[in-house]
Amino acid sequence: MDTLENYPSNMPYYRSIGNEVTLFEHAYRHQLPVLIKGPTGCGKTRFVTYMAAQLGRPLYTVACHDDLTAADLIGRHLIGHESTYWSDGPLTRAVREGAICYLDEVVEARKDTTVVLHPLTDDRRILPIERTNERLQAPPEFMLVVSYNPGYQNLLKGMKPSTRQRFVALRFNYPTPSIEQEILIGETDIDKSLALRLVNLTNALRQLKDHDIEEAASTRLLVYAAILIKHGFDPVDACRAALVEPLSDDIDTVNALMEVVLATFGK
Ligand SMILES: Nc1ncnc2c1ncn2[C@@H]1O[C@H](COP(=O)(O)OP(=O)(O)OP(=O)(O)O)[C@@H](O)[C@H]1O
Ligand SMILES: [Mg+2]
Repeated sequence: MDTLENYPSNMPYYRSIGNEVTLFEHAYRHQLPVLIKGPTGCGKTRFVTYMAAQLGRPLYTVACHDDLTAADLIGRHLIGHESTYWSDGPLTRAVREGAICYLDEVVEARKDTTVVLHPLTDDRRILPIERTNERLQAPPEFMLVVSYNPGYQNLLKGMKPSTRQRFVALRFNYPTPSIEQEILIGETDIDKSLALRLVNLTNALRQLKDHDIEEAASTRLLVYAAILIKHGFDPVDACRAALVEPLSDDIDTVNALMEVVLATFGK
């Protein structure tokens, strides 16, 4: 396991949770696309960034949205001074360079957009570019990774089975308290006892299910709280700003969450 002392400074910090690093390495080696699902702020993006650095491949990240077209991924002709010229989209660039292409929140993309991924994500591994009459064969180093948050899915969205069944899939979640404590120290260098208090507080907040909270406090928010406290911000105010207010607009819910904060950090 990596510790902070032997962590190369140019490598993004990532604390593995289970077998995801090995699975990703296998997938890369055997040219299998990877799908990562999990709640907000649980480490999906950090993991992909870390794996790209670990494997020494460039990373092209696309934040998907419902206006995303196939041309946004593949490329388009642009108008130059005297003529038009072709400009590769991030997916095409990644295929040409043997890079990792990461489509974040892929369920947001329209189904007709994700269909362009099909010939690339089965054993053919080709990217046909109609506009330029090209048919790119992906090199072994090319890898496609997609992620989404299952909590935000609705029936109209979601991926077609024929798309999702082209990936090996990993489920992420918030880590166990001891690993989350380690992540907090790794990210912010706060002391052990403060990290433990924050992790215990966050887990207590995560237990409050009866309130108007769409999604539990994430590891990302925990890191925010730790940064504020580490740099001298009052702990109760830091927890309100980082762990409570981002979760709900409902004042009763906020008050209920603040009671838990006060039980941990109150004077
Ligand atoms: N396993 C981990 N190792 C190191 N840092 C982590 C880990 N998990 C979470 N983090 C911390 O949590 C933050 C949020 O993680 P990240 O941005 O990867 O979340 P995400 O799953 O991509 O969320 P979203 O779905 O909202 O994009 C990171 O910036 C990092 O500080
Ligand atoms: Mg992300």
